[in-house]
Parts: sequence; structure tokens; C-alpha cells
Amino acid sequence: MTLRPGHPLNSGASASSAVVRQLRGDQKAARPVWFMRQAGRSLPEYRALRERYAMLESCVTPDIAAEITLQPVRRHGVDAAIFFSDIVVPFLLAGIDVEIQSGVGPVIDQPVRSHRDLDRLRPLEAHSLEPIAEAVSQVVQELGSTPLIAFGGAPFTLASYLIEGGPSKDLAITRAMMSEDRELWDAVLTWCADITAAFISAQVHAGASALQLFDSWAGKLGAQDYVSSAAPHSAALFSQLDDLVDDSGTRVPRIHFGLGTAEFLPEMLAVGADAIGVDATITLAKAHAALGGEVPLQGNIDVGLLDAPWEVLRRHLDDVLESGRVAPGHVLNLSHGVPKDTDPDVLTKIVDYVHEVGS
Ligand code: CP3
Repeated sequence: MTLRPGHPLNSGASASSAVVRQLRGDQKAARPVWFMRQAGRSLPEYRALRERYAMLESCVTPDIAAEITLQPVRRHGVDAAIFFSDIVVPFLLAGIDVEIQSGVGPVIDQPVRSHRDLDRLRPLEAHSLEPIAEAVSQVVQELGSTPLIAFGGAPFTLASYLIEGGPSKDLAITRAMMSEDRELWDAVLTWCADITAAFISAQVHAGASALQLFDSWAGKLGAQDYVSSAAPHSAALFSQLDDLVDDSGTRVPRIHFGLGTAEFLPEMLAVGADAIGVDATITLAKAHAALGGEVPLQGNIDVGLLDAPWEVLRRHLDDVLESGRVAPGHVLNLSHGVPKDTDPDVLTKIVDYVHEVGS
């Protein structure tokens, strides 16, 4: 289903925004900036609201999810909002017993590790996505010309939580399944791809103007394993989003981000992305060269420098802006999500600086 007539990419509301233009390779737009995990614990107004709602409860309560999504836009004046949710929300909506524990991350009561466990992987019913669509509608109404970015977790990163039952440093159980039981592996990742495609699609139909797939843990795989075992499922996910096109037949821009994936950026592009999110392990100029010189980039202010004296951070910002100039489109962002102890005023200062100098 193509996007409806009133969608912000069709009505013109967001199509001429700097984020959408840069992601479509239009360098004449001003250099825009937003931050991964901009909605969250670095903001006192977020912490105040979250005192009354558990993490996942706030994700499926439309008024709360909408309010939290808008908080960083109001405070920092960033050029895009990212929908407040989590990569594991589709699990919850599909009936999996999942919670997000503060300071720990997603925890799943009964991990999926055998063929018998596959019985518990039910399809995500369309009506379960209603709170998501409702929250997005509220957000885009308030945002006006500022685009909203939809997101989801790539099958590999998402499956790692389902298989491990929680965060894990080395993903040993996940990687064992990957090499020992191909059939089970493919079934689990296919399900993760399907529910996430539905999750992202719901956000876009309700009004998001770009989308980002987070394969945060892909770097724990080598390039070979990524290509043989993770990439086909990410490609299957992206192909389910092929009908997300505007009136002119142009698709909703797709950003693909992973940590520690500098060795296989072309492979991350090849699964069906339009732009690549770059972490701190490679410069934008090198990523640009590795990708063959034709790919818009997003990134990559080193999150490790957010606490540094302003002069140091400013020099780094100048380097990132300069390095990103070579790409046919650049959206400024961090190398990973905002760390929870970040001084929010630093983020506002970065936005003001980029808006001042970042043409
Ligand atoms: O502002 C935004 O970027 C939108 C919100 C967002 C959240 N999670 C909210 C959240 C996004 C885009 C995510 C993505 C996400 N979730 C990823 C991929 C991005 C990345 O950081 O690599 C991953 C791997 C997850 C799974 C997850 N959820 C983790 C690892 C954690 C952190 C655990 C911790 O407490 O440090 C979460 C919890 C989470 N997701 C929080 C937020 C605001 C913190 C919840 C709290 O307030 O306690």
C-alpha cells in the first residue's frame, strides 16, 4: 500500500525538510542534526514522566509515547524526531513476555532456544499496532514540517534478545544456534523480520517520513557470518517495506545503522538501505570511500566526547562536518545513542552550533 494522500511526504509538509532532502542525496539542503536516543534518560522531563509509567507501558500508551517523542524536539530544536519506542515493542505486541529493566535492558522470561519454542512465536495482529499508529498520528500533527523517523531492530539484533533472554556481551547462545541449527535460526529470524516490518510499516503509514533499522550488535559477527546468516533476513525485512513509496514513486528513505560494522558497510547497504549510519570506529570520509562514493551518510559525533570541554567537542564537530561534506548527503548524528548521564545542554549547544555553521 503506497502512502496515503495526506501523509507528510505527500502533502509536502516533510518532503522539503533538510533530513529528507539530505537522505535523498540533496546536498544543497542545510546540514540537519538529530540524536539517536534523544528521547530518554538524559532529559529531566523524561525522567519525571517515567516515574509514573514502566518503560514498555509508556511505549504502548499513545499520549505518553507521543509526549516523550516530542520532548527533545521542543528542548533542543533537533531537525527530526525519532519515535519513542523500543526494538522489543513488537515482541510485546505479539504476546511475548518481555520487560525492560532499568539499567539492564530487555529481559525475556522464556527465551526461544528450541523448535518447540517456535509455537510461541505468533504473528503480530494488525489491531495490536493501533496504539503505535495513534501515537505517531499525534506526534506528526504537532511536528508540522519536522520529519518523524520510524525505527525497528534488525532481525539479528532483535533475535539475540529472544534467544539469550536478555543482554549478552558475546551472544554465545545466539551464535551457537546460528552455526548448529540453521532451520531454527532461519525460523526465528524470519519471525523477527516479519513483526518488525509490520512495526515499522505502521509507523510510516501513520506519518513517519524516514526509517532507521538498528542492527546494533551486527559488529559481533564477522563480515562472512553477517553476509551468510544475518543479511538475508535484513534484506527480507526491507523488501517487506518496498511498498512504502510516496506519490512520485520515491521510497521512504531508509537508514541502516550498526556498531563495529566498518568492515562490511557495503554489505549493510546491499540489503536494501538508502543511507548508512556510521559509528565512531571509522571517519565519514572513509565510510564514503568504502561505500563507493554515492551513499548519503548519518553520523558520527563520538559519544565519548560529549563530556569534553566545548573547545575539544567543537573541533570534533568541525571535523565531522568537514568529513561528511564529501558524501552526497549528510545528516549529523552521534556514533551511538545518547549516554544517560549526558548534560542535555551540551546537546542543545551542538544543535545550535550545527545550525549556525553547518551548511
Ligand atoms: O530517542 C530514541 O532514540 C527513541 C527511543 C529508542 C529506545 N530504544 C528507547 C529506550 C530507540 C531508538 C531504542 C532502540 C534500541 N533498543 C536499540 C538499538 C539502538 C542502540 O542503542 O543500539 C537496542 C539495542 C535496544 C534494546 C534496549 N532497550 C537496550 C539495550 C536498553 C538500555 C538498557 C539501559 O537501561 O541502559 C533499552 C531500554 C531503553 N530503550 C531505554 C530507552 C529510553 C531506557 C529505559 C529507561 O528509561 O530506563
